[in-house]
Amino acid sequence: MKKTIIITGGAGFIGSHVVREFSIKYTDYQIINLDALTYAGNLENLKDIENKPNYHFEKADITDENKINEIFQKYQPDGVIHLAAESHVDRSISSPLDFVKTNVLGTANLLNAAKSLWNGNFEGKRFHHVSTDEVFGSLGATGFFTEETKYDPHSPYSASKAASDHFVRAYGDTFGLPFVITNCSNNYGPNHFPEKLIPLMIYNILNHNALPVYGDGNYTRDWLFVIDHAKAIDLVFHEGENGKNYNVGGFNEWKNIDLVKLLCRLMDKKLGGSEGDSEKLITFVKDRPGHDLRYAIDATKINKELGWKPSVTFEEGLAKTIDWYLENQEWLKNVTSGEYQKYYEKQYN
Ligand code: NAD
Ligand code: DAU
Repeated sequence: MKKTIIITGGAGFIGSHVVREFSIKYTDYQIINLDALTYAGNLENLKDIENKPNYHFEKADITDENKINEIFQKYQPDGVIHLAAESHVDRSISSPLDFVKTNVLGTANLLNAAKSLWNGNFEGKRFHHVSTDEVFGSLGATGFFTEETKYDPHSPYSASKAASDHFVRAYGDTFGLPFVITNCSNNYGPNHFPEKLIPLMIYNILNHNALPVYGDGNYTRDWLFVIDHAKAIDLVFHEGENGKNYNVGGFNEWKNIDLVKLLCRLMDKKLGGSEGDSEKLITFVKDRPGHDLRYAIDATKINKELGWKPSVTFEEGLAKTIDWYLENQEWLKNVTSGEYQKYYEKQYN
């Protein structure tokens, strides 16, 4: 069946992989990438598909009520896949209100536009909200986040994402708006902005800069290759049960310090340096305030109900990621010029 889908945040890291997955796989769909092109949005991420006839781009801020309604009227979407967000925890600590505005108000604005357009005629319609495991808070040494885990966000980022999830459910309960929510663990892969741990370490190793590890480095994250997240979104969007949430994760937990050391070894090998060269750059720095100790997703539900599982091992995914950064140093240079340098100085000084 033909569909028109608005994908918000399609110029960002995960969004660009979702846009690519959908525009290549569903040639009879119209895919509209709606993105404000903030510092994190980059149309270079979509160069390979930008001329496809089923791909369209609209530059718009999701908090702009008139503009969003105008775009919804113009394209009459059957579906919305909502990824646009302020996504970096450290930035949410220095500028919390930006996160409230985009992640909470922006999501409510999109829900309202969908509700007005669909006007109670919900047959074949769906709002897919892309959220995070951070809404569940922090785990101790054992246990997993399931779909039933109570929300317990700690950072302004995770609180804003939790609020946006609640708004999605409220529109479902109150107005009957059809929705699904996915809560995913840490993604990694090509096009990841180098403010986040893995690309930041790759970039700094390449430039022989210090590798800043927060606190004692014993914080734990569950890492998933970004294309596997895009595939999970495709499955849940098409086959997920209305009104439900699905956890998505890699069953792939790493302590930050172990992951950084692994990256050092892999990069030394790739760059032909001696083993141990990059590890010397590791520097323990001031901890992130309110730092969540451990995230770990139980992805049993999406596996059992929809047959999803990661297709790429961490070894394969990291190798693909490192190769991508080595082959795309121009991309890296472009995104790290200007504003990035100021951000970096402020964050790490
Ligand atoms: P990103 O920061 O790389 O990209 C965000 C995109 O949203 C950018 O293209 C940006 O231009 C756009 N955007 C920001 N504010 C906007 C606004 N007001 N109006 C329109 N567009 C705007 O983020 P990401 O890492 O790709 O994350 C995408 C989504 O997935 C987010 O909702 C995030 O919470 C969620 N998520 C991310 C991860 C992860 O590991 N990165 C994990 C789980 C969930
Ligand atoms: O869990 C999903 C979340 O993963 C997403 O919702 C967020 O959008 C995404 O940014 C990510 O959040 P994290 O805070 O886990 O990712 P980040 O890459 O910022 O940090 C990963 C871990 O590495 C975390 O424990 C903090 C630590 N860290 C990070 C940076 C940038 C460092 O030790 N040093 C650093 O310089």
